[in-house]
Amino acid sequence: MNPTNTSDRAGDGRALPLDPDRNLALELVRATEAAAIASAREVGRGDKIKVDQAAVDAMRPVLGSVSMRGVVVIGEGEKDEAPMLYNGEKVGNGSDPEVDIAVDPIDGTTAAAKALPDAVAMVGLAERGTMFDPGPCVYMRKLVVPGAAADVIDPEAPVGDILRSVARSIGKQVSDVRVAVLDRPRHESLVASILAAGASVRFLLDGDVAGAIAVGREGSGIDALLGIGGTPEGVLAACALRCDGSAIFGKLYPRNEDERSAAIDFGHDVDRVLTTTDLVSGDNVFFAGTGVTDSPLLRGVQFEADRVRTQSISMRSRSGAVRIVDAWHDRERSNLITASGRGH
Ligand code: FBP
Repeated sequence: MNPTNTSDRAGDGRALPLDPDRNLALELVRATEAAAIASAREVGRGDKIKVDQAAVDAMRPVLGSVSMRGVVVIGEGEKDEAPMLYNGEKVGNGSDPEVDIAVDPIDGTTAAAKALPDAVAMVGLAERGTMFDPGPCVYMRKLVVPGAAADVIDPEAPVGDILRSVARSIGKQVSDVRVAVLDRPRHESLVASILAAGASVRFLLDGDVAGAIAVGREGSGIDALLGIGGTPEGVLAACALRCDGSAIFGKLYPRNEDERSAAIDFGHDVDRVLTTTDLVSGDNVFFAGTGVTDSPLLRGVQFEADRVRTQSISMRSRSGAVRIVDAWHDRERSNLITASGRGH
C-alpha cells in the first residue's frame, strides 16, 4: 500500500489508508480449502487420480468466482475433453487484475492416496507475465535456505560448505541442522553428503513444496531443503518464498539429451542458477495452501461430526503478511464442501 495514499475519511483528522487493495491470497484460501476438503475424502483409499480429480473439481468453481483475469501458467497439463486447470486455461470472473496462476490442486497426490504426510492443496498468483515457464523441463535441482543464509551461501558449493554456511547464518551447529530431501533413489549420494557434513535428514515421501515453505519456519524443525523435484513445484514454492524471505535456488535438470535440447530450443539456459525472483519476478505475489494430510507446515483436514476443520496459509509478498487460517466448515451449510465432501 502506498503510505502517502491517504485521506481523513474518519472525519477527525486521522489519516486512513485510501482504497486498501485486495489481498487475493485470502480469497485463494477458499479455493484451496475446497480442494483439500474434497480430496480428503479420498485420503487413504489408494487412488491418486481420484485424489487429484476431487481437488480439481472442487477448486475450479471457487477460482472462477475470484475477481481476476487469470491464466494458468503452471497447471495440470493439457487435457483434451475435460478442462482441468490446464496450462493456458483462463480462470477468474474476467475483471481486473490480470494475473498468472500456478496451481497444484494437490501437491503430494501419492502421499494423500496412502494417507501419508505432506499433501497440500495450493495456488500461487502474480502479475501477468511474471512467472517462469518451465517449458519441457519436468525436474529441477532445488536448494532452499532461510532468509539469513540467502546472501551468504554459494548455491553451487559442495553440500557440506552450504550446510556449514546455513548453520553459521542461523546460529546453529551443523549437527543441529536438518535438511528436507525427497526420499528417492536419485538422492542416495546427496543424503550421504548431508550426513557426512554432520547434518540430519527429514525425508519427504512426496510433496516438496510444503517442505520448502517449512524451511526456517518456527517449529517446523527444517533448516534447508535439497534435491531434485518438479519444476512446477519449484515455481509454486518460489511464490510462497517471495512472501516470507526464505530463498530458493534452482537449476533445470533435463533427464536426457532430448530434454536438454528441447529446453535449449525453448530458450532456457540449463546451466543458469535461478533465484526466487527469477522463478517469480512480480512484486505483488500471493500464495495460498491448505493441508490435506499433516505436514511440518499445516495440519491436514479433519472430519468432525458436524464440521470439517482445515488449516491454511495465506501469504503476500508486497506486505509480507503471512496468516495461518484455522477454519471450521459446517458440513451441511458450507458452500465450499461438495456433495462428496459432506460424506453422505
Ligand atoms: P504431485 O503430487 O503433484 O504429482 O507431485 C508430488 C511431488 O512429490 C512433488 O512435490 C515433487 O516436486 C515431485 O513430485 C517429485 O517428483 P518424483 O515423484 O517424480 O520424484
